[in-house]
Amino acid sequence: MQFGDIVILTGAGISKESGIETFRDRDGLWSKVNMEDVATPEGFARDPKYVLDFHNRCRRDLRGDNIRPNAAHDALARLEREWPGQVLLVTQNVDDLHDRAGSGNLIHMHGEMFKTRCDACGDIHDREDDTTLETPCPACGQAGGVRPHVVWFGEMPFQMDEIQAAVGSCSLFMSIGTSGVVYPAAGFVQEAIFRARAHTVELNLEPSEGASMFAEQHYGPATEVVPTFVDKLLAGQASF
Ligand code: APR
Repeated sequence: MQFGDIVILTGAGISKESGIETFRDRDGLWSKVNMEDVATPEGFARDPKYVLDFHNRCRRDLRGDNIRPNAAHDALARLEREWPGQVLLVTQNVDDLHDRAGSGNLIHMHGEMFKTRCDACGDIHDREDDTTLETPCPACGQAGGVRPHVVWFGEMPFQMDEIQAAVGSCSLFMSIGTSGVVYPAAGFVQEAIFRARAHTVELNLEPSEGASMFAEQHYGPATEVVPTFVDKLLAGQASF
């Protein structure tokens, strides 16, 4: 068994069994709202109140009593605690379920629903309550510039240098619960293969767009396939 470094990319599928809808499944979020209206800088410029209200609703939904980390989030937190090498978890999800499960070495590359930032002074702050166009920035006090700290289409994901360094030097790259259509995340598997010569594993409900690029694939609900694979890794039975 090798004790190399691991990079894990997660997407909406890992939170589906926690009660959070995905984006592109038949009943996904993008079948209900127009993503250009709610998740682009142009949409925000056109109708900021509509975009803030949408994010307020999402934030309230994520605080529902029924929303909690599932066995897949727990398994990844356990992997980080018990794996002798480094484990970096990169999530595209804006929910806080990996945080609540206890993952510490975690990058929210598409931002976080429970943070907002101020376009006037750049401050990033925790946010539990709703925001309006009148909400003042807690740092500079200016109203009108507070926006969700999430990455919209056309914006650059966060901490890309750090992610690319880790992907380019890992031994194992895992992709979990993501459709593999949104770049740059969808390109990480190729970087892991060509730059790091890493073993690559896809864990998903069904084959993703980039499934054929992965050396190993396991399909099923995240709450089943992720704990099983983590158990195998920690027991030294994984074949890489
Ligand atoms: N277990 C595992 N995988 C699942 C489950 C489940 N229970 N349910 C659904 N999936 C899979 C789907 O088969 C699909 O491949 O999760 C994937 C979800 O894909 P998307 O909805 O496209 O979500 P994601 O890949 O995270 O989207 C990437 O797109 O809209 C943007 O910024 C948003 O971060 C998001 C990005």
